[in-house]
Amino acid sequence: MPVKRALVTGASRGLGRYLAGALATDGWAVTGLGLRPEGDLLSLPLDEGSESEVTYLQADLGDPATLVPLSAKLGEVPDLVVHCAVAYPPRTSGPPTPDQLQDVFRVNAFAPYLLTLGLLERKPAEQFTAVVVVNSEAVFAADKDSAPYAASKAAMRVLTTGLADVCKGTNAAVATLMLGPLSSPDKRAELRRIAEKRNLSEEEITRMFLRRSNPNLVIDTLIDYEACHRSVQYIAGLGPVGNGMVCRLDGGSAGSLI
Ligand SMILES: NC(=O)c1ccc[n+]([C@@H]2O[C@H](COP(=O)([O-])OP(=O)(O)OC[C@H]3O[C@@H](n4cnc5c(N)ncnc54)[C@H](OP(=O)(O)O)[C@@H]3O)[C@@H](O)[C@H]2O)c1
Repeated sequence: MPVKRALVTGASRGLGRYLAGALATDGWAVTGLGLRPEGDLLSLPLDEGSESEVTYLQADLGDPATLVPLSAKLGEVPDLVVHCAVAYPPRTSGPPTPDQLQDVFRVNAFAPYLLTLGLLERKPAEQFTAVVVVNSEAVFAADKDSAPYAASKAAMRVLTTGLADVCKGTNAAVATLMLGPLSSPDKRAELRRIAEKRNLSEEEITRMFLRRSNPNLVIDTLIDYEACHRSVQYIAGLGPVGNGMVCRLDGGSAGSLI
């Protein structure tokens, strides 16, 4: 059987890096896209002696001059696309500038939207392609700090519905993976540091952190990367019936009615 191709954006760190490696282990031929130059890359998980590997592609998704030709540059349309790249406004004391806001919206909403449209346009009719848009429970609970990020993710949520409509009858599916707070190595290290200082266990401090940061969550642990990987596998395996799906691995953040 021919090897299936996957594209993962945001693959230089965080969840995207994990997913790129895990999908390569599953047997996908993975292209991982990131902003930093390849030389600044931490070794991708599968570079170290494994038979599968991730091919790295450097591209600035916030730059329209890069974004417009990107779909064609990727060559054959991937069978799976995971949009994981994310940008935040810089942490400064004043309000973000219009350019900074635009950059956040470009990376988090316009890039996944336009790249998906470009790929769907070129997809051969007989090929099934699944597109997974990683979104965030932040859309349900914005505050003064998270509002620009949350607004860009909310914009992408609505654009994803438009993409699902484009997919209708085309042997493609665009789905949303809505995530709550992730168990990133940095977050865990910080929680461990605080736990040691207060003479508490990591589990206890994580529970306290979640209660305080997201009082509406019903989970006691951060969401691990492997649960996200399994959700991506699940969505990718559904076929066209997964079009328009929202898979919520978000700790129940939006309450019971949504
Ligand atoms: N972290 C959480 O708790 C959380 C919660 C809910 C949802 N999510 C969602 O999960 C996804 C992954 O989040 P994460 O925290 O794991 O991400 P992350 O660690 O912050 O990594 C962001 C990735 O996006 C890339 N990127 C940023 N700007 C870019 C640009 N202009 N062009 C191309 N690539 C760019 C970065 O590349 P460089 O490293 O090269 O700069 C990096 O690979 C995001 O969609 C996020 O919204 C995260």
